[in-house]
Amino acid sequence: MSTARIASPAALVLAAGQGTRMKSDLPKVLHPVAGVPMVQWVVRALRQAGVERIVVVIGHGGDQVQAALGDSVEFAWQREQLGTGHAVLQAREQLGNFDGPVLVVAGDVPMISGATLRGLWEDQAQSGAACVMSTFELEDPTGYGRILRDTMHGGVTAVVEHKDCSSEQRKITEVNPAIYCFDNQRMFAALDQVGNDNSQGEYYLPDVIKIFVKQGETIKGVLSDDPDEFRGINDKWQLAEAGAIVRERILKSLAVSGVSIVDPGSTHIGPDVMIGKDTVIHPNCVIEGSTSIGAGCQIGPNSWIKDSEIGDSCRVFMSHMERATMAQGCRLGPFSNLRPGAVLKEEAKIGNFVEIKNSELGAGVSASHLTYIGDASVGDGTNIGAGTITCNYDGFSKHRTEIGRDCFVGSNSTLVAPITIGDDVLVAAGSVLTKDVPSGALAVARSRQENKEDWFVRWREWKRGSNG
Ligand code: UD1
Ligand code: MG
Repeated sequence: MSTARIASPAALVLAAGQGTRMKSDLPKVLHPVAGVPMVQWVVRALRQAGVERIVVVIGHGGDQVQAALGDSVEFAWQREQLGTGHAVLQAREQLGNFDGPVLVVAGDVPMISGATLRGLWEDQAQSGAACVMSTFELEDPTGYGRILRDTMHGGVTAVVEHKDCSSEQRKITEVNPAIYCFDNQRMFAALDQVGNDNSQGEYYLPDVIKIFVKQGETIKGVLSDDPDEFRGINDKWQLAEAGAIVRERILKSLAVSGVSIVDPGSTHIGPDVMIGKDTVIHPNCVIEGSTSIGAGCQIGPNSWIKDSEIGDSCRVFMSHMERATMAQGCRLGPFSNLRPGAVLKEEAKIGNFVEIKNSELGAGVSASHLTYIGDASVGDGTNIGAGTITCNYDGFSKHRTEIGRDCFVGSNSTLVAPITIGDDVLVAAGSVLTKDVPSGALAVARSRQENKEDWFVRWREWKRGSNG
């Protein structure tokens, strides 16, 4: 059957709980896995599955969750956390009239895949079941709701929370990951009948299953063979384990697409990073955000790169980049820092202890040692000597430094902005420039040297004589 004919489902993400076991001030669902908040992973998987309308139920730390997700989704507030069933009911205003399948997913299951979610709603749409839910098996099912099945037909007849289980039920290893696709209208109708007479005094979402069974409805439990996908995160060790699994998946997909990952154990790359073939990522690199790196680059060791663009055949060695761009054939490092707005054109060479912010450096520009370039533009082919500083800040405002092409800025020059230096200019080493320099000139701005012949030898003899 063609999936295109199935109407897109809605989705509900439950993210109002406190996550007490995280022992953190940050709401649980905002803790990052491979640099992305876990609730964002769930939203991404829903989008991959083809869901357009997503309502996130928020409560604990809700303002922060709302700020993190922005207006890509809708929100429903659950002011008091009275259980997962109660949480779903808070979205009645948004989804009460929706007629179709609704995926309900906990916000703390970051490894859930789009394919699994899509499978659930296609199954629900085709079978017409009131609920199609994922299940999985765990050797140690402690803490999870256990799946009870009808021995005759195999359908799910109930989910019993760990705390409400009899000792016989505790032995059941098939558990509820809290990933469901319901028929939306039947779900809301059944939820109205769910009570809170249980060991936690909560309104449990899975209790709708018992109500469906009484109504003669079918509940399909789809047993998965990939338990990793369903791992819920409840503490920081589970968070770390999930991070390791997701990180490995990302590295593996990069490696099979032609990227060399020298040491997967020390390499952290975010899910949206793009890297070209034959690029080598050396140990201890963190590459995050919407970074793209071309082909044939050498990155690291010991580099941190975020939201940056790197062309082909570049070398980044023990350095930082954030919101910075380098065209092909550039060199950076060791120990240099490209801050937001740093733009390097082809073949630029930035050596060690160089900081560049909000500045454009032309093709072939070289700044090899100990330099700060801020709020500046530097023309093609210019050489910036060691110790050059653009003084861009007067304590109140930032000012620009414009340097032309094919200049030679001597070592230890101080360029006090605002200032414009033309093309083909030589700035004498040690100059403090406060005035513009026309093209072709030599600018010298330092005190003139005077040599006093024999002065030191005579002075030293006099000192020795007077002390002896
Ligand atoms: C839930 C299921 C359990 C399943 C387990 C899988 C229920 C009653 N139990 O239990 O069968 O095995 O997940 O991890 O559903 N939430 C709210 N509002 C609330 C309560 C929870 O938004 O009032 C959210 C939480 O933020 C969380 C999700 O719902 O994202 C699950 O809640 P949690 O308290 O972790 O449920 P479990 O006890 O783990
Ligand atoms: Mg949980």
